[in-house]
Amino acid sequence: MNIKVSSTIILASLLFLGASLYCITFLNVDQYDEEFAYEASGYAQASRCSLQNIQNWSCGTACQINPGVTDIKAFYNSTHQIQGYTAYDQNKNMIIAAFRPTVTDLNTLIDLDYFQIKYASCNGCEVHRGFLLAWKDLQNQVLTSISELANTYPNAKVGVFGHSLGGALAVLASIDINNDVKHVDYLYTFGQPRVGNKKFAKYFNERIGNIYRLIHNRDLIPHVPLRVMGFYHEGTEVWYDEPNTSYEVCDFEKDNNKCSDKLHSFTMKDHCYYMGRDICEDC
Ligand SMILES: *[C@@H]1O[C@H](CO)[C@@H](O)[C@H](O)[C@H]1NC(C)=O
Ligand SMILES: *[C@@H]1O[C@H](CO)[C@@H](O)[C@H](O)[C@H]1NC(C)=O
Ligand SMILES: *[C@@H]1O[C@H](CO)[C@@H](O)[C@H](O)[C@H]1NC(C)=O
Repeated sequence: MNIKVSSTIILASLLFLGASLYCITFLNVDQYDEEFAYEASGYAQASRCSLQNIQNWSCGTACQINPGVTDIKAFYNSTHQIQGYTAYDQNKNMIIAAFRPTVTDLNTLIDLDYFQIKYASCNGCEVHRGFLLAWKDLQNQVLTSISELANTYPNAKVGVFGHSLGGALAVLASIDINNDVKHVDYLYTFGQPRVGNKKFAKYFNERIGNIYRLIHNRDLIPHVPLRVMGFYHEGTEVWYDEPNTSYEVCDFEKDNNKCSDKLHSFTMKDHCYYMGRDICEDC
């Protein structure tokens, strides 16, 4: 092989390696994983259960989907009736955090408190005030618990999950866990509302690993608060059809005219059905 050809090959390999490293750091390299999404729906739904049932991981299907869960700590703060838990899944070597959706009138008031306020860790970022105040209620306990888990399981991955309001809390939790404790590898949310402005979405996408936002058919919640009010989605949308059987995956840059953005009418009827299950079922 002559020198010129081999150096071209080396240069090409270096460029390829560089490009791969770049992708690993900044883009969603892993493919959307439907089996993982099914398991994620179990983590998300389990957050609805009583603290007692979460603690002993006895919550029917939601818990049975992920039988390897240990080290569970469930949290509830009465200020805005916000609930969530942290745990470790030994089958996946993954530390998890999950948050409860809107289940009380007080939660509904938070959803409606859509005034944007400054998001301190990033210049120009703004987020939904109600969601941020709600996350603040659990922030100390969740971050402390995740740090303890990270010390116990230093090689574990980190995944954060939630449905509806719980998805919005998962977004705000992810960025704090990622910045203060340990890199977040997976964020899978279901019927998640928009959380922050365009700068926040960009800031978020540059930091968190695999971000998949599942939307079932005409689910209304992912379309609020409105883009005209300055709210944008982070992550990659995975849009499921009415029978919950096939899906399209859309680039986060184009929160416009693709996937569920093609639709003009929405309904709450589709908000609870994800991965072929009713994930609003209490446990
Ligand atoms: C979990 O806690 C609930 C509520 O206290 C109790 O009914 C149930 O028997 C417990 N299950 C296990 C496996 O400990
Ligand atoms: C509950 O939320 C309030 C308001 O955000 C906060 O001041 C308080 O410290 C929280 N409680 C716990 C135990 O973290
Ligand atoms: C799909 O979702 C709809 C609600 O939009 C629900 O009525 C139906 O049972 C679900 N189908 C399957 C196969 O889970």
